Amino acid sequence: MNTAEIRRRFLDYFASRGHEVVPSAPLLYNDPTLLFVNAGMVPFKPYFTGAETPPYDRATSVQKCVRTLDIEEVGKTTRHGTFFQMNGNFSFGDYFKAEAIRYAWELVTGSQDAGGLGFDPDSVWVTVLHSDDEAAALWANIAGLPAERIQRRGLLDNYWHMGIPGPGGPCSEIYIDRGPAYGRDGGPVVDEDRFLEIWNLVFMQEELATVRAKDDFDIVGDLPRKNIDTGMGLERVALLLQGVDNLYEIDQVFPVITRATELSSRTYGAGGPEGHTDDVRMRVVADHIRSGLMLIADGVTPGNEGRGYVLRRLLRRTVRSMRLLGVHEPVLPELLPVSRDAMGEAYPEVVANFDRISAIAYGEEDAFRRTLTTGTQIFDLAVADARQSAAPSLSGERAFQLHDTYGFPIDLTLEMASEQGLAVDETGFRRLMAEQRDRAKADAKSKKAGAVGSEVYRELRVLGLTPFTGYEELVTESRVRGIVRDGELVPAASEGDVVEVVLDQTPFYAESGGQDSDAGVITADGVRLEVVDVQRPVKGLVVHRVRVAEGELRSGTEVLAAVDGEWRLGACQAHSGTHVMHAALRQVLGPTALQSGSYNKPGYLRLDFAWPSGLSPALRSDVEEAANAALRLDLDVTAAYMTLARAKELGALALFGETYGEEVRVVEMGGPWSRELCGGTHVQHASQIGLVTINAESSVGSGVRRVEAFVGIEAFRYLAKERALVSGLSDALKVQPDQLSDRVSRLVEQLRAAEKQIADLKSRNVLAEVGAIVATAHDMWGVSYVGHHAEGVTGGDLRTLALELRNRLQDRAAVIAVVGGTPDKPSVVIVTTAGARDRRLKAGDLVRAASEILGGRGGGKDDIAQGGGTDGTKVADALTAVEHAIGHTLQS
Ligand code: ALA
Repeated sequence: MNTAEIRRRFLDYFASRGHEVVPSAPLLYNDPTLLFVNAGMVPFKPYFTGAETPPYDRATSVQKCVRTLDIEEVGKTTRHGTFFQMNGNFSFGDYFKAEAIRYAWELVTGSQDAGGLGFDPDSVWVTVLHSDDEAAALWANIAGLPAERIQRRGLLDNYWHMGIPGPGGPCSEIYIDRGPAYGRDGGPVVDEDRFLEIWNLVFMQEELATVRAKDDFDIVGDLPRKNIDTGMGLERVALLLQGVDNLYEIDQVFPVITRATELSSRTYGAGGPEGHTDDVRMRVVADHIRSGLMLIADGVTPGNEGRGYVLRRLLRRTVRSMRLLGVHEPVLPELLPVSRDAMGEAYPEVVANFDRISAIAYGEEDAFRRTLTTGTQIFDLAVADARQSAAPSLSGERAFQLHDTYGFPIDLTLEMASEQGLAVDETGFRRLMAEQRDRAKADAKSKKAGAVGSEVYRELRVLGLTPFTGYEELVTESRVRGIVRDGELVPAASEGDVVEVVLDQTPFYAESGGQDSDAGVITADGVRLEVVDVQRPVKGLVVHRVRVAEGELRSGTEVLAAVDGEWRLGACQAHSGTHVMHAALRQVLGPTALQSGSYNKPGYLRLDFAWPSGLSPALRSDVEEAANAALRLDLDVTAAYMTLARAKELGALALFGETYGEEVRVVEMGGPWSRELCGGTHVQHASQIGLVTINAESSVGSGVRRVEAFVGIEAFRYLAKERALVSGLSDALKVQPDQLSDRVSRLVEQLRAAEKQIADLKSRNVLAEVGAIVATAHDMWGVSYVGHHAEGVTGGDLRTLALELRNRLQDRAAVIAVVGGTPDKPSVVIVTTAGARDRRLKAGDLVRAASEILGGRGGGKDDIAQGGGTDGTKVADALTAVEHAIGHTLQS
């Protein structure tokens, strides 16, 4: 029975018994306690905890799950898979133990013709919690199980909770006996390989307070409404019903193993220790490929942290495992489509989105292949060093260097080192990592704090924070609270000075959240300050860096602070444009294309986001199109204050690493289309942004890309400039703009052909002189010597000339020396015929003599050698030196 059919039967069975069929939630679920959904009940948590009222009393689902704690175990046992599917039936205060047991028994042992799974009732064993007499009695009564097949176990095995305060309860697990071939007799308490767990029924009946461990928690009381949560391992049922040994051999997984055997020309299940190692590798490949496929389908992209890192590890382990199987070519393009075909029936989205999924996966493989090539060389050196100094482990410095410079993840270093029988100084590695982080933080801080004197700012802040009036108005009446020069409070500043000014309140936006600071002027009677920069060196205090353009400024003066309206409009356009770009990126690339940093100022924005590879021109224009579509829809832009909790509930995007207070500002565009925590200034309607054009896209580190765009009038100017460029080119080349690219490629081709022709002609010219040069040969004790200055002939041509001359003199004892090159870089080629070599004349020796005179070096073999120097005035002397060397050899 194939896996999709088992899935269908499960859902049908419970649907026809009043259960709402709930589709699988994505693997990424909005739950801060989880990396990925890891059980069928996760999406129902709010119903179990009572936080929300369920819209139904009973539900059933087949939930995609990922668990990666046991990643090292994959392939080695029968039952560890990183991706798996959990079939579940759930009761929210409706039925309880008796019905749950009855349903499970009926489905497991019901005949296949009647829609059941058809397991032999005699092969079924169950466990219950040691104190749960009720469950034991139900199993005896409902299923007629003999007492010895109802085993009792402790809290560790038979109590289920979520690891956090909330509901929990005893559980009962159902096992199938696979027979004596698979292990010892005695039921699951003795052997969990022979007796394979397929289904866990959780009787949620208690409320837990503190949870310290799986078997260590405090029960505060009974739940008002008792619930049922069950989880059946779909893959495990499939392996049993398909009569295969382990879950890597079921229909949804095995095709990848088959493909791996074809690619590697190795046999699966060949036996022997080596065969076993190969088998494990193929299972790792099959498991990881499938998990990678499903994770990317649900929006995960490879990265260096959290979920992205798990995916990266899975894909990289796949590539490495295939290498260890002897396959060095790119493997994902061979394997991923196989997994898609195996999973497509149950999950059509992996077929529909395969272009996107595969682009991400293949990009990661490319990047990893590059990393492997360089990193492996460094790693090998490190291993050799360790061996030489008889050290039992690689140093933390080496591991850090591999990570920091070559992008080698630490677990890869660990794995490769252990293959070499070496340990790694992980503590040293972690210490270096921590030091680096601290350095980066300190660096970032010192940059932000501006110059010196955070002490003086702290003192000023004691007098009160600076209220920001700039959301409502651009011009505000205010008072100078303090003037700071070189970190010191000063009473006054005069014309021409550059100082920092703190006001009682200000409409000037201080640089933050990626938005550049406002420009404008601060004026008083006879005084005019130009604002050059605005920062918040300490929390809540705004400091204006100003140039005193006119008059003398005194502390305490009443002033008018006025932001430049044009500037602010541009700033609003650029910042709103950044939100639009972020939303457009996520709309096109999926929810993991999250912003990691940004900067915007009038006319320009740049945004860094998590993405593994460069955007193709098509994707780039999709993003641009999505952004400009939002402008055309003229989405409303609004800002509202709310609690952080409420903002999170609304799904507002917050930047990682930023700290937010309890009350936050949420900027929305078109409601949920874009919702971000943001203190910046914005336009009121998207159409006021005008236009957004992406002008560059680049990498800014592993897994992070940067888009840059022009906004508003700058975007128009950018396009206008391009248009002028195109029309200039099309005038110059005398073709219509749409034929430009054809025309240019044709020109480039023609140019290449012409260059080749010139090179051919040049070498033909050189060769045309061969006859005349041969005629200059003169005899030295029976050896013909040709010494020729081929002025301007370089590189390959010089060599060709020498070889051609030798051809003509092949039947004699002959030495040919030709000097070419340029006056400041003469080069020499010397060749000998067999006859000359019989007379002990060696090209290598002769070329050394010539090169020395030319002020350089040379060398080579007996029959051909080359060299050169730096002094072109010595060509004749060099040729004479060769002659002398020949004479010397022949006469000695
Ligand atoms: N939630 C239970 C489990 O994961 C069914 O085993």
